[in-house]
Amino acid sequence: MTELVTDCCSPSGLTAPPPPFELPMLSCAESGSLCDWSWRIFAAPEIPEGLFDHGETVGDTLALPDGRKIAAMPFQFPQSGMFDLYRVLSPRPATLARTVFVADFTMKRPGILTIALGVDWMVLARCNGKVFCDTRKIGNGEAPVGFDHVAPIACRAGANQLVLEIQGGGLPEAMIAAKLLDAVPLALRFAPWASYPDAEANAMSVIFSGTRVSPAGLDYRKKGTENWTRCYDNLGGQIRRDRDVHVIRLEDLEPDTVYEYRVFLLDDYRGFAEVPAPGVHCFRSAPRAGKAFSFLATADVQVPTPERTKFLNALLSADDARRADFFAFLGDVVWTSNCDKAVIEDFVMVCRNAVANRIPLVTVRGNHEIYGKDTNRFFDYFTAPEPGREGYCLFRYGDVCFIVLDFCDDAPRQPFPSTRCLHDFEPYIAREARWLRRAVRLPMCREAKYRVVLAHGVPVGDSCEYMPRHVRQVIDPVFAGDDPEVKIHLWLGGHVHRPFRSVPGENVCYSAVAPDDFRPGSKHPRLGGRYRFPVLITGGPRASLPDELQLTSFKVEVAPDAITVSARDRYGREFDRIAVAPDGSVTELFRAEFLRRYEY
Ligand SMILES: [Fe+2]
Repeated sequence: MTELVTDCCSPSGLTAPPPPFELPMLSCAESGSLCDWSWRIFAAPEIPEGLFDHGETVGDTLALPDGRKIAAMPFQFPQSGMFDLYRVLSPRPATLARTVFVADFTMKRPGILTIALGVDWMVLARCNGKVFCDTRKIGNGEAPVGFDHVAPIACRAGANQLVLEIQGGGLPEAMIAAKLLDAVPLALRFAPWASYPDAEANAMSVIFSGTRVSPAGLDYRKKGTENWTRCYDNLGGQIRRDRDVHVIRLEDLEPDTVYEYRVFLLDDYRGFAEVPAPGVHCFRSAPRAGKAFSFLATADVQVPTPERTKFLNALLSADDARRADFFAFLGDVVWTSNCDKAVIEDFVMVCRNAVANRIPLVTVRGNHEIYGKDTNRFFDYFTAPEPGREGYCLFRYGDVCFIVLDFCDDAPRQPFPSTRCLHDFEPYIAREARWLRRAVRLPMCREAKYRVVLAHGVPVGDSCEYMPRHVRQVIDPVFAGDDPEVKIHLWLGGHVHRPFRSVPGENVCYSAVAPDDFRPGSKHPRLGGRYRFPVLITGGPRASLPDELQLTSFKVEVAPDAITVSARDRYGREFDRIAVAPDGSVTELFRAEFLRRYEY
């Protein structure tokens, strides 16, 4: 086992974050929209620059240095937030002629409003005499005009005034865009955790999220070294600015090495100021072949949150758990997923904190992660480490090639209002099957001493039809039969909510309840002969089981001579233990009496 990683939280040493605003950030509800403000326009040839450099308040007439006095024209700011300067003014101003837009508005209390501006071609914008946006050197910079330039504007209680000096370009249109944003202060929402260690690419993913969409990145270094390496959440060579969840894949790490990392956000509402998140965190990269290691796994923790939290805290803070190298979750956190709250806040953060963020989390999708309105978000957080797929991948850790598989739901599409109305599994399962046929030929899989499947669904142990049919569609071409393309040593799964262990190659299992018990009236098919590897399943909430078997877990120890799997009940008491040799032979080391032998 690897040594315990400790001392993971020293002061970050990052540059200081931008100072917080002295005033509260205000919502649009407190200011009204721009169309509610009192707008007027001053248009004339050759309005000079510098008229407002001293912060003057503008009235209904604008006096120019050459003696002209320009009367204001009223202007109704459009609901759409966009208008063409050259359609508003007649005659059309000369290219780059200066036109002044003024808006008066009243606030009940002082605070910070956030405005997004885009002007084709230039704008110098002030609020109460203070410049908050100046694009006179760069122009709009982008076409078509959008709400490109986001800036905070400080308002006072009572009367306020916005002054925009706008210079249109040489195109037939001079589009102007402006809107107020309901700004949320940018900060970390969910603290970072490490995921999907991989010794093949020497990689690790770091996952975190911010309070709103923003660019983000991290610094990392080998523990004990001085210089940080910076990388950003990047897509196609650009720093992403389109998401609040950030998954950064670090590659080319040294194996079996402790790294430190610290994350930061870039506040695009404040000129991309760096907002460091507190703390320096650690992970140990995956070891190469030959290194013994251990991991924990569980699944189907669909019990009330306090009960689940208690179970996870006990599981992940036990002495041997503290020495584990990673934690694998095999799917089904809650019954209907609200991803941010139920999966991340109430589950991932609990696991992360229980292990003091010392070990990575490997996540497998269960069918209950598919129920709910925001289920697509699951893959925002748990982006597969290999591009081009969602819930399935390979990764290497020591002597094991882990094969993560995803078999979606246990029922096909159903009419609205069922949450299953968006099911479209067949193309996904077919793609996964094609991928697996290629993946098992890769040296990282073929040459590994052991191959272990992590999946929510199972090839035996589930007496239903729909999900097991997908399991067999994906795995039978490569894992089934007397002489499979690759030999699987172990399958860890969930879904059926009862402790179960199959006997390889036989229609025999050890289970806490009869194998047909999962669905009344169902009959477990006699397919055990196809699968010459042990399938082990965790317990889960189930009325026919005693309390201690409704939440169970595995501790898996991988050594050069065997993989040892110990199944434990809710309270950490072992009830089953087997050893799987490199040749696939299974030795039963211990079995509690309640795990009875069944033939099916
Ligand atoms: Fe399930």
